[in-house]
Amino acid sequence: MATMHEIFSAYQSRLSDLEASQSTNPFAKGIAWIQGRVYPIHEAHIPMLDQGFLHSDLTYDVPSVWQGRFFRLDDHLARLERSCEKMRLRAPLSRPAIKRTLCAMLARSGIQDAFVELIVTRGLTGVRGLSADEVANLSNNLYMFIVPYVWVMSPEVQLAGNGSAVIARTVHRTPPNCMDPTIKNLQWGDLTRGMFEANDRGAGYPFLTDVDVSEPKGERQSDVNITEGSGFNIVIIKDNTLYTPRKGVLEGVTRQSVFDCCTRLGVPYVLDKVPLRMAYEADEIFMCTTAGGVMPITQLDGKAVGDGKVGPITTRIWDVYWRLHYEEEFSFAVDYEDERGLEGFENGEGKGMNGLTKAESKGVNGLSNGVGKQVNGITNGEGHANGKLVDGPAQ
Ligand SMILES: Cc1ncc(COP(=O)(O)O)c(C=O)c1O
Repeated sequence: MATMHEIFSAYQSRLSDLEASQSTNPFAKGIAWIQGRVYPIHEAHIPMLDQGFLHSDLTYDVPSVWQGRFFRLDDHLARLERSCEKMRLRAPLSRPAIKRTLCAMLARSGIQDAFVELIVTRGLTGVRGLSADEVANLSNNLYMFIVPYVWVMSPEVQLAGNGSAVIARTVHRTPPNCMDPTIKNLQWGDLTRGMFEANDRGAGYPFLTDVDVSEPKGERQSDVNITEGSGFNIVIIKDNTLYTPRKGVLEGVTRQSVFDCCTRLGVPYVLDKVPLRMAYEADEIFMCTTAGGVMPITQLDGKAVGDGKVGPITTRIWDVYWRLHYEEEFSFAVDYEDERGLEGFENGEGKGMNGLTKAESKGVNGLSNGVGKQVNGITNGEGHANGKLVDGPAQ
């Protein structure tokens, strides 16, 4: 696992540099863009009346930046546009304007390894009593923020190879005909319950199924399939082939990267139903998400997956996955000298910190008062090179 050590130690040293800049750079802990103004992350607020806050009437996406390069940004923005369309939302900025703004926010913050979140909400008008047409024509809000890279599974756990998961028994995934999981959404009630259960059972992560598997039927129940977990897709490896659910899940951009890795490595993958029993019989399992990449699971329901170590296919995919971050086909370098993408947004009424450049804001007090916790948080396209597709919509 030399590559894993190299990737993580280079990352750690960039993180130390960023942390060292916190005393002089008010944006080093994060930067937010709210209705045309930029703020240090801990000063950013959303209006109380935003329907995104009041009703979770929103969609969002999370691209990432690695060593100063945006990774698969267009794939994330294309998915955000698809999600907006399904939700009858419209981002108030065009795709090129969003890209310019995000790059300028990175420049201002100096953050090289970043978790980037864009949220489009219904906006400030209450929807009750409005007709569907009126709702669809409301002006929607866009919120964007960038914080240092977030790990769903920490580098320490990835290196130790001791990631653990449970099949959730107290909750199953919200059915697709209730909330379409291909729309990236923050209706996390089921996922949060799963996280509590995993923790109560001494594991790191919940895997949610598509129907109830509560005791005493448990793992013997036959017509049960794996869906996804709290912010990640799930991949099962059996007999040198990858299996991941075709339906009932978010079409993860990282999952797409995993398919690209498979194509490169000549490893077959299958998009189809993944019966629960396959998880218990797996040779290897990993989870995948933008915030953490390819994350090996070596224990499921307290039992070893395969031989209980990170498996050889997971390791090869892990290596190629991080290599993709440096390739032009999947990423581009951000110009950290160019803040022009913030011009025109922040002129005029800047009060306090708002709208100040990094240099101008040096020495302003009260930026990191310690109360704010760090935010933790496809072109799926058709025709995967070697993936078996099942017809019908992904939902
Ligand atoms: C429910 C869910 N599934 C899967 C994923 C993985 O998606 P991606 O690889 O695009 O980050 C996420 C990411 O946040 C998620 O929230």
